[in-house]
Amino acid sequence: MITLALSKGRIFDETLPLLARAGIEVLEDPDTSRKLILPTNRADVRVVLVRATDVPTYVEYGGADLGVTGLDTLLENRAQWSSAGAGSGLYQPLDLGIARCRVSVAVRADFDYAAAVRQGSRLKVATKYTAIAREFFAAKGVHVDLIKLYGSMELAPLTGLADAIVDLVSTGNTLKANDLVEVERIMDISSRLVVNQAALKLKREALRPLIDAFAQATASQSAEPRP
Ligand code: PRP
Repeated sequence: MITLALSKGRIFDETLPLLARAGIEVLEDPDTSRKLILPTNRADVRVVLVRATDVPTYVEYGGADLGVTGLDTLLENRAQWSSAGAGSGLYQPLDLGIARCRVSVAVRADFDYAAAVRQGSRLKVATKYTAIAREFFAAKGVHVDLIKLYGSMELAPLTGLADAIVDLVSTGNTLKANDLVEVERIMDISSRLVVNQAALKLKREALRPLIDAFAQATASQSAEPRP
């Protein structure tokens, strides 16, 4: 049995076409089913639904053989995995080029971010990406007080909790709807295929064709003109 870990939402939706190109069809819709283990048209392949931040953990410790996870999740939690001594259990063979977005700094439209940085002000920054934000502002030489949040980051500058946020931006619609502006792009993000190292050895014959199919689907998808 091959177990693939996915998170609901953008990653699940954008992984489906890649699976289809590998001849794999998920037989239940996670939006209507309460099941966490979804069967596929292949008796030897199943999908498990986990929180986005849990995908690497499932793959790392063998709860799943492979998974799809954002680069943001991988980078943000890198320290956690290597300090657990488990950093070697996760093999990252492919950039799938899906769920593309960016991690950016955003502020209220009336906040002069450039001036605050120039003057060496201490910035209050709310984010769930504290590791990525800490590294970014340290490299810029900007002093920050980081406030850890788990969601609705856009509220922080609007309520006075923070001067700025570090969050994912895709279309920019969420920022616009909340009168925030993107002032710096920290990094581009896309989803990665991650594979359990031990499974890669022990289930090589079953996994290799699947990984190759993902690679081919990714290559042919990126060769198609973008809408
Ligand atoms: C992300 C992010 C923003 C939104 C940006 O949230 O936190 O809220 O997407 O997308 P946009 O630029 O297209 O408006 P996501 O939907 O990933 O869920 P989350 O709030 O759980 O992080």
